[in-house]
Amino acid sequence: MIGTVTLNLALDVTYEVDQVVLGGSHRVDAIRQRAGGKGVNVARVASTLGHQVLVLGFVGGVTGELVAEELFDAGLTALLTPIAGETRRTVAIVNGADGDATIFNEAGPSVTSDEWRAFLDRMPWGRLGVLACSGSLPPGLPADAYAELAVRARHHDVLTVIDTGGDALTAAAKAGAVVRSNAAELRDALGDTTVEEGARQLVQLGATAAVITDGSRGMVAASHKGVWRALPVEKVSGNPTGAGDACTAVVAAAVAEAPEPDWTVVLKSAVAASAAAVLTPVAGDIDLGAYRRWQPQVAVN
Ligand SMILES: Nc1ncnc2c1ncn2[C@@H]1O[C@H](COP(=O)(O)OP(=O)(O)OP(=O)(O)O)[C@@H](O)[C@H]1O
Ligand SMILES: [Mg+2]
Repeated sequence: MIGTVTLNLALDVTYEVDQVVLGGSHRVDAIRQRAGGKGVNVARVASTLGHQVLVLGFVGGVTGELVAEELFDAGLTALLTPIAGETRRTVAIVNGADGDATIFNEAGPSVTSDEWRAFLDRMPWGRLGVLACSGSLPPGLPADAYAELAVRARHHDVLTVIDTGGDALTAAAKAGAVVRSNAAELRDALGDTTVEEGARQLVQLGATAAVITDGSRGMVAASHKGVWRALPVEKVSGNPTGAGDACTAVVAAAVAEAPEPDWTVVLKSAVAASAAAVLTPVAGDIDLGAYRRWQPQVAVN
């Protein structure tokens, strides 16, 4: 089973309006609500690809109840730790004229150290093949929260895949995780570097492997055995939000089956799934037909 950690779960609310006018009053034509946060996107993609997932995170208040309900309705098994604070919302206002979205992200409730302990204590290590951690940390949690999870996971022989940036990325590498980031997050952490060189550096710091996405230029994987770049079969237009999460889902599934997978094979699936995620308008969804068509065609160098 793939455990996906979303420490800052959200209820993603989408409003569709005719035309967004700053300072104007709008009639909302349609409202959609679903559970969100990067780890939930990872869980949705992994589940769509046929893997068993367990969504892990914090929920609080009425919004937390809605998140839990929506995860259940989506068929995603969840183990949620209650908190005193109210789960956050993100609000996307979609402009009917061109489909552009204006997005408001709440920071999220503060998590106390007791709530963090409760979360750590109920981790079902024995049931997990891998733990995938993605997204921002809520206020109140220590900056090394992901590294702490990685170290605990290792004690239980569970590998972690950590998608993050900045100091948390280098800390995750030092804790021996499989690390994930995009090119901008990599440069935030390591300074000016190429994606290939940066990925190699993360492995030298201690990462089991590093998989760095590079927008429409594809992605790079590095392990102690080598460095590979894979290119998308074609450049697609669509919504790239969540494309990196589709990559994380594929990487987590591969690592759950073999701690040291053949990265050339993993990259083919990751590149195909990421492009198939760009094709769909909602983060967490992928176009399965496009994924299956592209997967054998991805070139890896
Ligand atoms: N226009 C595109 N056409 C084809 N593939 C794309 C395109 N944009 C992105 N991809 C694929 O998606 C992967 C992830 O993209 P990107 O580097 O933008 O991720 P990200 O910024 O981490 O995304 P997020 O964090 O929102 O999930 C890329 O490595 C690439 O393989
Ligand atoms: Mg990303």
